[in-house]
Amino acid sequence: MRVLTGIQASGKLHIGNYFGAMKPMIELQEKEELFTFIANYHSLTTSKDAKLLKQLTFDAAVDYLALGIDPNKTTFWLQSDVPQVLELYWILSKFTPMGLLERAHSYKDKVAKGITANHALFSYPVLMAADILLLDTQKVPVGKDQIQHVEMTRDIATKFNNEYGEIFTLPEHVVNENVATIPGIDGQKMSKSYDNAIDIFMETEKKLQKRCNKIVSSSTPLGEPLEYEGCNIYNLASLFLDDNRKAELQARYKTGEEGYGHFKQYLKGLIWDEFAEARAKRKEYINNPDVVKDILSDGAKKMRIIADAKMVQVRESVGIL
Ligand code: ADP
Ligand code: TRP
Repeated sequence: MRVLTGIQASGKLHIGNYFGAMKPMIELQEKEELFTFIANYHSLTTSKDAKLLKQLTFDAAVDYLALGIDPNKTTFWLQSDVPQVLELYWILSKFTPMGLLERAHSYKDKVAKGITANHALFSYPVLMAADILLLDTQKVPVGKDQIQHVEMTRDIATKFNNEYGEIFTLPEHVVNENVATIPGIDGQKMSKSYDNAIDIFMETEKKLQKRCNKIVSSSTPLGEPLEYEGCNIYNLASLFLDDNRKAELQARYKTGEEGYGHFKQYLKGLIWDEFAEARAKRKEYINNPDVVKDILSDGAKKMRIIADAKMVQVRESVGIL
């Protein structure tokens, strides 16, 4: 099964991103033919700062590699290194009714938030369709907000196929319903926009402890048994524990011998240890940026071969000499 995931480089990754999106993606590469790229042309639609966009793009590559994207199993590249996607974007634009784009929730939401409307922002879904259709993608794992974009891709591909023959594979979105919404330190959905996130890569253990200390908990006095159900600390800790260790932690809550401070310290240890290997790999990549560039460049080479073959078919179908 050919699976494609696109990553928007948007800064520091948090534990919600990890359990909600990255871990399932990293597990996929064991089972499927996974293609993953960093959508830096998409990021350009809302970027104002060249240096920052470059930095975020590099950071995203480093973070994903450190957390487990394996270039021997997954084709991993930078969108802008495969310019064929922009040619396909233009050709697909001809099969994209204005009304289809006008109905896009994501565009309307962005404009409502005050982002200046421009053509790139408006035609964002056509570029996404080009990403997906360029490599005969069968499945696209996405968050709920991106389902409509995959549906638009199917509409565009169907319109093309109806006029010119079966050139494009119709992709399906996959939303992992089993993935829970990870709570932030205030118990609401963890999100970088709510200032309630715990980042994966904190600089020091001390800073991570400080962040964990901010987790909202009830005020049961020390000596009394604590409720683990509904406790933010427990909910976050349980993400890192198997059933046996969850039962052990529940038992510790019930004895009343430990307070929330102890459990916050325990949680800090779990997070710090879970990402120890990724932290080391990340450091290694940051110190050797050429290794990252080589990985991306190898991925792009593979992709350009696939893209060229597809574009021969597409150009031929529509009559581009
Ligand atoms: P944020 O809300 O911090 O801006 P993004 O919208 O950039 O996060 O999300 C990137 C990916 O991480 C998406 O696939 C999204 O579903 C997932 N994700 C983000 N926050 C959570 C969360 N709290 N729980 C589960 N998954 C999440
Ligand atoms: N729009 C996606 C997001 O914001 C990123 C993306 C761009 C993408 N092109 C894609 C995702 C192609 C899947 C397939 O998350």
